[in-house]
Amino acid sequence: MKFFLDTANVDEIRQIAELGILDGVTTNPSLVAKEKREFRKTITEICEIVSGPVSAETVSLDWEGMVREGRELATWAPNIAVKIPLTPDGLRATRVLADEGIKVNVTLIFSLPQGLLAAKAGAAFISPFIGRLDDIGHDGLQLIRDLRQVLATYGLQSEIIAASIRHPMHVVEAAKAGAHIATMPFAVMQALMKHPLTDRGIERFLADWRTLPNYQEAILTPAKV
Ligand code: E4P
Repeated sequence: MKFFLDTANVDEIRQIAELGILDGVTTNPSLVAKEKREFRKTITEICEIVSGPVSAETVSLDWEGMVREGRELATWAPNIAVKIPLTPDGLRATRVLADEGIKVNVTLIFSLPQGLLAAKAGAAFISPFIGRLDDIGHDGLQLIRDLRQVLATYGLQSEIIAASIRHPMHVVEAAKAGAHIATMPFAVMQALMKHPLTDRGIERFLADWRTLPNYQEAILTPAKV
């Protein structure tokens, strides 16, 4: 499973990229607005940090506007994925951009038919929002399972991005449900790495290690011949 960060915060992206585990980034207008920086500068900086796809979203509501914005965004960096909302105009724009070889991430997907339509329109990525579905008492993870099964049945190539992730268990369950990618906030990515038994285990190992004579030089001192 690929791990994306769902943020426009360059410091957070750099921190996770340095660990060597970051496969891509998704942004949206709300996340970009939160950073209070120039949009193009933010996106191009992210694209330099991350080699995988970086989603940047269009804001027009008509397909011609989406296509114009999508073509422009795609010139900003080779790893841009143009993010387009699932509307009739969004589907039309997705088809035009996909036919031009531009990767499209169709966003704001809340149902199986919406996901299927986005895949048929040629989306490289489809983003079902599991957290926002759970928020209104629906089952976001079931949508991931259903989409995975239907895409496989019809040989559709879109990758499923489990989006709107709220906590580590969403990532675990999305992986089991067959999502190709999980895009998550920085805090969730950090939480995935933590376990109290790991911390306690390190403490105990180091306490025992310090009982060795010359423990400070035991690893980095060349062996005596
Ligand atoms: C996905 O690409 C979206 O940016 C994101 O996951 C939305 O999540 P939210 O419901 O936390 O806003």
